[in-house]
Amino acid sequence: MSGATPLALSKPEIAHNVRAAAKYTEGLGSGDGVVPRFADYFEMADQADIEAGFQVYMEHCNDCHGHRPLDGGEWSNASAALIHQRIPVEKLGTEPERLTFRYAQMVPLALQTDFPGVGEDLVEQVRLLEERAASARAEQRPAEAYFWLQQLDRLNKLSREYRLGHGFYFGTDDLTAETGYFNNPIPGAWLRAPYLHNASVPTMAQLINLSPRPDQFCRGNAPYDPVQMGYVAPTGDCPPDIAFSFDVNAKGNRTQVMITHGDMMIRPATPKSCASFLPT
Ligand code: HEC
Repeated sequence: MSGATPLALSKPEIAHNVRAAAKYTEGLGSGDGVVPRFADYFEMADQADIEAGFQVYMEHCNDCHGHRPLDGGEWSNASAALIHQRIPVEKLGTEPERLTFRYAQMVPLALQTDFPGVGEDLVEQVRLLEERAASARAEQRPAEAYFWLQQLDRLNKLSREYRLGHGFYFGTDDLTAETGYFNNPIPGAWLRAPYLHNASVPTMAQLINLSPRPDQFCRGNAPYDPVQMGYVAPTGDCPPDIAFSFDVNAKGNRTQVMITHGDMMIRPATPKSCASFLPT
């Protein structure tokens, strides 16, 4: 939705498309042939290994992500107890900067200005903006106070345009909720590399700690590696065709301790072969 205007998002056909696109992404490649499957391009492992891997996945990953059944078909969240829940970043162990950057606490309320509610909801939105403006002023942050006053103006204007409330009004409950990352379905996982919200892990083998994660790697026009499941990402000086050097130690880029990924990420430190994680 980034970049869309409140007006565009209030059109039923556009709102419908946004919702349909979200739904599509959730179930990506549900056997409709639109999204390529790994098997369309690469050789699959032996059926016995796939089945053993499936058991490992169901034990360690399904709770948060759901799964695709062994025989293909629709992505299923049916037995995923934690799906769509927010996991505190301390528990997950991935890079927290997206949740803690300087303006992170301002984003939810600022976003909500674009989606006015109606009646008491609107009164509450106004109250929250006034409260933020007042505390910013009291705490000697004039630029921030000015920002909230502008938001109040904007809310005032938009609430006149959307007298019945905006279709994307999302309530005030979540504005101060504990931050974290959502457990989402991961259909088409092989196509999602480089992994995590900051694209800091080039391959699946590195994500689940079968291989060590690089401190630095080159990004650009890289070939796909079906064995490691992800991008071939050389380290060191980057050649011209893959010239972007991703520094994992830079703020916001860190890949960090997904060794915990809760306690659930298949463990770590020394690289092992995939086979050693499979039940014997
Ligand atoms: C406690 C919940 C939880 C468990 C259990 C869990 N994950 Fe995750 N996983 C997450 C969250 C939340 C993210 C997003 C983290 C981020 O982007 O920083 C994520 C990210 C991922 C991604 C990256 C998706 C993308 O589009 O980049 C993959 C792939 C993944 N997990 C696979 C697994 C596998 C495989 C397992 C089992 C070994 C597993 N996860 C276990 C919560 C969980």
